[in-house]
Parts: sequence; structure tokens; C-alpha cells
Amino acid sequence: MTVSSERLSAEIDELAKFSAHPSPAVTRVIFSSEDLAARAWLVEKCQDAGLETRFDAVGNFFARRVGSDPSLPAIATGSHIDAIPNAGRFDGVVGVLGGLEAIRSLHESGVRLRHSVELIMFTAEEPTRFGIGCLGSRLLSGALDPSAADAMADSDGNSLAVLRRKADLEGSLDTVRLADSFYSAFVELHIEQGPILEREELDIGVVEKIAAPAALRVRFVGEGGHAGAVLMPDRHDAALGAAETALAVERQVLESGSSDCVGTAGLWRILPGAINSVPCEAVVEIDIRDTQIRSRDGVLEGLRRDIEEIAARRGLRVTIETISADPPAACAPEVIEAIEDAVRCEGLAARRLVSRAYHDSLFLARIAPTSMIFIPCHRGYSHRPDEFSSPDQIARGVAVLAESIRSLDSL
Ligand code: HGY
Ligand code: MN
Ligand code: MN
Repeated sequence: MTVSSERLSAEIDELAKFSAHPSPAVTRVIFSSEDLAARAWLVEKCQDAGLETRFDAVGNFFARRVGSDPSLPAIATGSHIDAIPNAGRFDGVVGVLGGLEAIRSLHESGVRLRHSVELIMFTAEEPTRFGIGCLGSRLLSGALDPSAADAMADSDGNSLAVLRRKADLEGSLDTVRLADSFYSAFVELHIEQGPILEREELDIGVVEKIAAPAALRVRFVGEGGHAGAVLMPDRHDAALGAAETALAVERQVLESGSSDCVGTAGLWRILPGAINSVPCEAVVEIDIRDTQIRSRDGVLEGLRRDIEEIAARRGLRVTIETISADPPAACAPEVIEAIEDAVRCEGLAARRLVSRAYHDSLFLARIAPTSMIFIPCHRGYSHRPDEFSSPDQIARGVAVLAESIRSLDSL
């Protein structure tokens, strides 16, 4: 399948300009001015390609080319364009612009599909603003209660309800949920965000499982006080409670015995945040993942015990909030097979992989047969400005996506 690598590379570079930070970094937090401008740019690109476009009430974006038999459930592809602070230009974007390129290339090469093909750009795949990942695909798949979602607020107290109205997104979140039979299949193209494909000199990864992510928000409250006046035995330092918790995360994960288990204490808020004041409050957000839900949940249980012990010993009050704790997703054999057929058709080298990052596919797998196509990225780097996949690596991924769609159309 011939794809226009030049057109796609130019669009990836164009989209990267919608960023709160200067190149090569990309920061594009959901509903920020950069994100809203990027969305408007994407709508124009899809309409230029002759696709029918719409937004749902939470800002998931859909661009459809209607097939010769509109009665058939569409084949869907897509990903996200929101980016965490100081990220790269390929995470998510390869799946959205690569999906658009696959749809254009199929049409330009004269392929006329029976099924409609729908490109989806999901709202808030990253947890940056609301603390929870995959907000749009959770609502779309019924994995999140709409009223709970509307009440979610960012660290400045802006609720989703207010922010989505400001973004001119109308309607109740109850309308976002799609029926389980709405799509006949979903395929997401994404950079691997790991080193395996590059290390093994492979072109494509075919995803058979997506790891199970969980997120906790732990809040310690202590006494605070003057950094000079409060002697050490009299202290109840909230930040030290958080610090011990981060070390407990590392210990619990390493002691789990699961090489697929990972734990990160990546987001901290310390109050009052003054050098000469003993921290009175500390919030630490923790990300725990594993391909096996049993070992992941074992780590969560051990960590809860540790946190309670740390708080009691240090005379701190503590609350532990579960932001999310999702099961892993098994990808659909028929979609995996369609991707592997496409790899053979393109004469490429591939292997099956487990996705350690989560993706919107984790939730689309609940309502449609789903799998993912991974392409190599330099040293597996991601969520950093030097994230990189070459135009040829991306073009090969798009060609496999296009051929997979063609193959799924024949089912
Ligand atoms: O965190 C993740 O796995 C994804 O990049 N949001
Ligand atoms: Mn990401
Ligand atoms: Mn991503």
C-alpha cells in the first residue's frame, strides 16, 4: 500500500507546533488553548479529505468515510493528540494522523470498502488534567460513570462540565456511550514506547495484550510549623510520609517477583512549599501496572498496609484514593490475524508484543474486537522531547494499518 510519507511527516511537524512549550518538546494538555487549536486544525484536515466529522459531548472526535454498505458497523482506527508536559510529537499523533493517512491512501489507491471507516481522536488519553487516563474512551465504552466524570476537576478547580462547555461541547455525557456492536473492529497504530522492536530490528509489533494500570492519590496531613523552631522529635512532616511511600512503592514492586510489574510516584504536591516551613500537606500520585492483575493487586494491598503504618508511626493523617484500577485487555484473534496478514502482504518483519503503556484500545477492547500496531521508536524513548520514529518506520506502520483495514473489510 502506497502512503504519502511526505504529507504525513509534514502534518506531524505541523501538529507539533500546537504546544505550550518550544520544540522539540510538545505539551498539549486537554482543553488548553493549544489543544483546542490543534483540534480545529485536525477537523480541517479531515474535512479536506472528504470525511464526515463530528464531536461527542466529551470531545471525542470522529471522522468517517462512508462505505458502500452503510448498514455494516464501521471499522475504526485512531488514538489521541493530547500530550503530557515536555513530551514528544509521536505519542498518539502517529495513530491519529497515521489513521487519516491510511484512510486517504486506501481511497487514493482506488480501494472502495464495504464497511465505513471511522477515525477517532479520543479526548484526554493522558491523565495530566483530570488525574485519570483515557477519559474519552472510558466514557465511550461505559467504563466510567458520566455524572462522576462531569464532576472531575483539575488542580485549579475547573470541572470537566465547565471546561467542555467552554470548548463548545454540547450535550449530556450520557450520550457518549457507544453500543457494543457499533464498530466491527478497532485498530490503533502507536509507537511502541519500549525498546524491543528497535533492538530486534523489527518493523512491526502486533499487540496481543495491554497491561493493567492502576492509579492512587495519597494525601498526608501533618502539623507543619517553623523550620527553625520545631525540633525534630516534635515534627509530623507530611513530605517525609510521602517520601517513605515512594520508597515503599519501589520495594513492593521489586518484592512482587513479577518482572512486568512497574511502580512510579510521578506527581507530587507539597504544601506550603516554602523552604523554611515544615510541610503540612503532601499529595503523591502513584502509577502501578502489571500484565497480571493478581500481582498488581498484591502490590496495591501491600502498599496500603505500608502507607497506614507510615502515617501511624509519623503521627500523620492519611487518605488513599483509588483514581483507577483497570483489568488488562486481551486483543481479538481476528484483528491480530488481519494485522499479521497485512504484515505479510507488506513483506515486513514483526512479532507479537504486550503493551506496557495503556492506550484507548484498553477500553475499546470492551466494546469491539481490538488490537494495536506498534512501530519502533528510538531506544524506546517516549514522554520526552527526544521521542522519535523515522518517516519510513511510520509509513510502514500506516501501510500495515491500511492493509489491516482492507483485510477486516473482507470479513
Ligand atoms: O501512561 C500511559 O501508559 C499512556 O501513555 N497514557
Ligand atoms: Mn502517553
Ligand atoms: Mn499514547
